[in-house]
Amino acid sequence: MTVRLILRRDADAVADALTAAFLDDPVMAWLAGHDDRARRSVTLRAAMFAPAVDAVLRTGQGYAVLDGDRIVGAALWNPPDTSFFTAEDRPRIGDAMAAHAAPGAAERMRSLVLAMHERPFPDSTAFHLQFVGVTAAARSGGHGARLLAPVLARCDLDGLPAALESSNPRNVSFYRRLGFEVLWEVTPDGGPPLQTMWRPPRPAPHRP
Ligand SMILES: CC(C)(COP(=O)(O)OP(=O)(O)OC[C@H]1O[C@@H](n2cnc3c(N)ncnc32)[C@H](O)[C@@H]1OP(=O)(O)O)[C@@H](O)C(=O)NCCC(=O)NCCS
Repeated sequence: MTVRLILRRDADAVADALTAAFLDDPVMAWLAGHDDRARRSVTLRAAMFAPAVDAVLRTGQGYAVLDGDRIVGAALWNPPDTSFFTAEDRPRIGDAMAAHAAPGAAERMRSLVLAMHERPFPDSTAFHLQFVGVTAAARSGGHGARLLAPVLARCDLDGLPAALESSNPRNVSFYRRLGFEVLWEVTPDGGPPLQTMWRPPRPAPHRP
């Protein structure tokens, strides 16, 4: 098992792994709107994870976990004071949702964005976790924690906070173990709740 930076040649494998990992995620399933898992998978890959992998190749803050030479999970981060999806990404995401998601996708997407922006994070200097996912067969072996370790260590070294929105209440205990606390919960109109979580910087032992 190895954790390493995501490279351009990994793009398809990372998009595949994240699509599989999020297939039954409450928020992603609601967003795609399909009961049929094959259609949900096509929607999430085209509208969410292919654009997200391209975005993380720009930020340079993506990590993959490999079992042998197979990518089984990934964590995509946005560094402080930057936008993850750019103005050029938004039409691509909107078009892919319109092409593949169940009817009403634009409204669901709008209410998700509105809910997530309802209350701002305490400050803008956080590393923001956009997505972390491990394929179902590879879960519960510590890969999720290992995937987040490099950026959390960097946060501690630089004295920076980390932030995320958990799209599944089941994950709250996982994030708590890594030092995150729930700030509040937001619920998009007609959708499932998300827990907004925050991790204050911890003192790094080797910080000067
Ligand atoms: C959350 C996730 C990345 C953790 O990866 P992992 O490799 O299983 O993580 P670890 O082995 O380090 O930790 C296990 C913890 O993950 C959480 N978890 C969430 N869903 C899980 C699942 N289906 N199976 C196992 N663990 C799960 C639990 O908190 C678990 O801790 P617990 O055993 O005390 O309940 C992974 O479960 C996953 O990809 N889930 C689906 C996608 C997702 O929810 N991503 C995060 C969105 S905010």
